[in-house]
Amino acid sequence: MDLILLGPPGAGKGTQAKMLVDRYGIPQISTGDILRAAVREGTPMGIKAKEYMDAGDLVPDEVVVGIVQERLQQEDCADGFILDGFPRTVAQADALEDSLKESGRGIDAVISLDVDIEALVGRLTGRRTCKDCGAGYHVKFDPPKTDLICDKCGGELIQRQDDQESTIRERLDVYRRQTAPLVDYYSQKGILFRVDGMAPIDSVQSEIVQIVKGLT
Ligand code: AP5
Ligand code: MG
Ligand code: ZN
Repeated sequence: MDLILLGPPGAGKGTQAKMLVDRYGIPQISTGDILRAAVREGTPMGIKAKEYMDAGDLVPDEVVVGIVQERLQQEDCADGFILDGFPRTVAQADALEDSLKESGRGIDAVISLDVDIEALVGRLTGRRTCKDCGAGYHVKFDPPKTDLICDKCGGELIQRQDDQESTIRERLDVYRRQTAPLVDYYSQKGILFRVDGMAPIDSVQSEIVQIVKGLT
């Protein structure tokens, strides 16, 4: 089962992907998470990517396409994967299709999380992420049991560098210009499924699970 979660910043891609990992045992591939790990480790790629990410812009296609191609070849992707935050441009989508074709596979479903763009600023400014295990929270919509402490591992909850309001506005703008065309792109291929991303987290998950059931 090869899935893509598509949606603007704050739509809930990461939240839903993590729940799907627990349910189906296939990996989440988040280009954002991979890039943030490279930034933390200070690799040459991370140092370059940081400038784009802090500005809210996209990292160049060839960099992210390379990351994903390498990741998809790992053994844990043999039975499927959940792409979160990739592809984000038509060029990335074309490159993905080509490399999957080479290994005789293709995307089964693209799940579009449909949201009200204005609600996303509130979601992103309230987001908190565990420094140690990456679990995601929201101060209002999905709070941890104890302030600033991860329920799962006790780690410290931090705010992402790019979750400042001005950077969020730029990311939303970049989404409108560069990523939103992928909704039509996948709709034309007949593999787009739309989900109401404004519903509560568990309802969104149920809708996705229904779609996945329909695939098999
Ligand atoms: P990335 O990390 O992918 O960020 P993003 O796309 O901006 O998306 P987010 O992670 O902000 O949102 P999400 O949809 O995962 O929402 P979440 O589930 O956390 O990318 C970061 C940067 O890396 C990019 O700007 C770019 O520079 C670079 N990059 C990454 N991929 C790239 C690519 N392919 N090409 C080029 N550059 C790339 O939810 C948000 C908050 O809302 C949470 O607090 C959550 O608890 C809450 N929430 C979730 N669902 C709900 C709900 N249903 N109701 C209420 N609250 C909810
Ligand atoms: Mg995310
Ligand atoms: Zn944690």
